[in-house]
Amino acid sequence: MKVGILNIATGNYRHYFPALYYTIKKYFLPDHEKTFFYFTDFPEKFPDDVCQFQIARQGFPGDSLLRYHYFSSAKDALSQVDVLYYLDVDMLVVDWVGDNILPDSGGLVATAHPGFYDNYTPSAPLGTPEGRTESTAYIDPSESRPAYWAGGFNGGETSAFLDMAEVIRANIDADFEKQIIAVWHDESHLNRYLVSNQGIVKTLMPSYCYPESWNLPRAKKILALDKDHAAIRKP
Ligand code: GAL
Ligand code: GAL
Ligand code: MN
Repeated sequence: MKVGILNIATGNYRHYFPALYYTIKKYFLPDHEKTFFYFTDFPEKFPDDVCQFQIARQGFPGDSLLRYHYFSSAKDALSQVDVLYYLDVDMLVVDWVGDNILPDSGGLVATAHPGFYDNYTPSAPLGTPEGRTESTAYIDPSESRPAYWAGGFNGGETSAFLDMAEVIRANIDADFEKQIIAVWHDESHLNRYLVSNQGIVKTLMPSYCYPESWNLPRAKKILALDKDHAAIRKP
């Protein structure tokens, strides 16, 4: 299986990439051939398995929100692999991640958000979906959903993932026309798409997006690193 890894880093975030790269190489789908598709405003000298795409820095949340635009525009290169996974660059893989995370044929994989997984009550909204009907990311409270998914780690069979990227990109553009940015940016749009396509989504435990400083009785597979948001996002 050819696996493509999608990472984005602009500004200070670029310092996260080398450590993530090595932990993915070691622990992530170790039985498969991996290619990294790295989107950055600061291309550097990396090994040959890192395919770099230069992007312009937008700041937060633009750099995160425009991910699906970047993925769509790199479609030709991305189509060379069988499955694609996106990981936030401020993550580290800390344990073996094996074939159980692979999508079903034609399917997608997404991670239950650690903040809303087993500590919500049925009367409360599950997670933080977009609640404004004007946004294309809107989720009606009456729609049934198995989870609120995290933006930080998800993937899918390449064609399914790229189909998703095209739809989300168009939805984000439609929101831009109305001068709306969804409440949790790309993550809101991801949730909208996954709710609509829940039949093809495999949902992973929050072990795959585990906040570094939390200590829950749950396996830690991929850490979402603690960070000083203001410091890391400054120009
Ligand atoms: C936060 C997380 C954000 C977003 C939000 C959703 O914990 O840092 O990136 O996922 O939850 O409510
Ligand atoms: C975070 C997630 C990021 C991005 C962000 C929304 O929780 O890790 O990938 O989706 O929310 O701005
Ligand atoms: Mn993150």
